[in-house]
Amino acid sequence: MRLLVCGGAGFIGSTFARQRVREHGDEVTVLDKLTYAGREENLQDLAEEPRFRFLRGAIEDREAVAKALETSTAQAIVNFAAETHVDRSIAEPDAFVATHALGTYVLLEAAREHGLRYVQVSTDEVYGSIEQGTFTEQSPLAPSSPYSATKAGADLLVSSYFHTYGLPTLICRGSNNYGPYQYPEKLIPLMVLNALHGDSLPVYGDGMQVRNWIHCTDFAAAIGHVLEHGRPGEVYNAGGPDEEANITVVKRIIALTGAAESQIEHVADRPGHDRRYSLSSQKVRALGWSPRVRFEEGLEQTVAWYRENSWWWEPIRSGDYRAYYERQYGRPLSGPTAGA
Ligand code: NAD
Ligand code: TYD
Repeated sequence: MRLLVCGGAGFIGSTFARQRVREHGDEVTVLDKLTYAGREENLQDLAEEPRFRFLRGAIEDREAVAKALETSTAQAIVNFAAETHVDRSIAEPDAFVATHALGTYVLLEAAREHGLRYVQVSTDEVYGSIEQGTFTEQSPLAPSSPYSATKAGADLLVSSYFHTYGLPTLICRGSNNYGPYQYPEKLIPLMVLNALHGDSLPVYGDGMQVRNWIHCTDFAAAIGHVLEHGRPGEVYNAGGPDEEANITVVKRIIALTGAAESQIEHVADRPGHDRRYSLSSQKVRALGWSPRVRFEEGLEQTVAWYRENSWWWEPIRSGDYRAYYERQYGRPLSGPTAGA
């Protein structure tokens, strides 16, 4: 298949691009704006592949999208492009509205013009928080942050293109991802790198919030299944096999890195913090997908990857991320490589 993968220089998009080129023989063109979270290094190992191409551009830029479709002669668009961090959406929502609303609209129009299959990558956060049980695709949308609200808006727009114009759209909603190449603003890589550097481990509130963890290779595979076998107009949830309270995740990371429990610091809670996410994946399982990586094993591999790949995170941890960290947590990180 020839694919246009938008946002493919990010954490999950690059995992998906690698999987499609290497395991499925697809021709992949990545279109990515390269925000702070988009990194060409994430695709470094694909750079020499004849079936791979990288184009820098924004999804809200009609000309960039038209050019990408012309160059790639894509048969389908898979859209990962997004602003993805809840804390940043609370501090500065602007880019979330622009990318999720306008960007998705521009891609949908381009898909309509060319009659392309369109997959929107979405999140369990559009359903809001659930104390008990699990969300299905029928659960009402009740997002709580500017991140999840704008993602939900994008999902609704995608569905409207199926209902109104008959565009073959699909939506795949994932639970919390983890694995290599995840930008260190997110819980797991943040805690791993802070643990390795002897920095404090900032747990929001009581740390009893629960997340449903899925390895990025499993989520990428679920998106591939939806792309190939999903029914147009449908939504598919892809949740991981394990749920864990944040404090338990942090303690596992402490054990895997040899850090000290005294590094844990309970800090002010995130405003509007969702207590628990949990997804039922029965529908995508019926397409033949199932997750392969259990959390315990995946976390151990992920910690090992961060330990062994300082070439990847050192430029991040010594760059703009330091200023972000100080703004968000009210304290500086330790030196770029101290203690690692
Ligand atoms: P990420 O932040 O690592 O990457 C996002 C990518 O999108 C970056 O490469 C960035 O440069 C690019 N991008 C941002 N705005 C753009 C724009 N306007 N035009 C073109 N490119 C743009 O994110 P991720 O964690 O890989 O998430 C990818 C997708 O998966 C997102 O849609 C996200 O909502 C969804 N998702 C993420 C998770 C998770 O736990 N990380 C879980 C479920 C769903
Ligand atoms: P995060 O990785 O930001 O993902 P999401 O908010 O999309 O679930 O956060 C995962 C959980 O970890 C969430 O409950 C917030 C919590 N958290 C902390 O306790 N401390 C931190 O420094 C961060 C970044 C997150």
